[in-house]
Amino acid sequence: IWMIQKRIGRIMNGTMYREILSENLLSSARALKMKCGFVFQHDNYPKHTARATKEWLRKKHFKVLEWPSQSPDLNPIINLWRELKVRVTQRQPQNITALEEICMEEWAKIPATVCENLVKTYRKCLTSVNANKGYMKKY
Ligand SMILES: *[C@@H]1O[C@H](CO)[C@@H](O)[C@H](O)[C@H]1NC(C)=O
Ligand SMILES: *[C@@H]1O[C@H](CO)[C@@H](O)[C@H](O)[C@H]1NC(C)=O
Repeated sequence: IWMIQKRIGRIMNGTMYREILSENLLSSARALKMKCGFVFQHDNYPKHTARATKEWLRKKHFKVLEWPSQSPDLNPIINLWRELKVRVTQRQPQNITALEEICMEEWAKIPATVCENLVKTYRKCLTSVNANKGYMKKY
């Protein structure tokens, strides 16, 4: 949700992205009860992979998942965006202000178990990709 918050009305750059990470990454990991030594995953969107961001994550000792550049549909966050979209659409926001508020409300309402399940499914999916020597399997 911090993405949406920061993105509305402004174009995100690497500086903003790092700011968002520094304000939210640890607290989110705690809220999700991640074990320490958790692996952070983001996709290969240029802002995410910019050298300065890589350097920042390395300095902060965050472990980052190695990520094949052309595998967007392996990313579990896509499922979460889909979930959010369905919830927000049902509320029929009438303007950008309402949209932002409804996004935040609905995001907060998605139970942590939904994330947990996505991570579990994801592990299964990765194992399957490995077994297929990099070929993507449809789920
Ligand atoms: C990134 O965006 C922020 C906020 O809009 C701005 O203050 C900063 O100058 C921008 N940085 C670069 C490198 O463009
Ligand atoms: C946006 O929509 C909400 C709900 O329909 C309404 O209460 C609010 O006044 C609207 N805001 C603007 C800026 O039009």
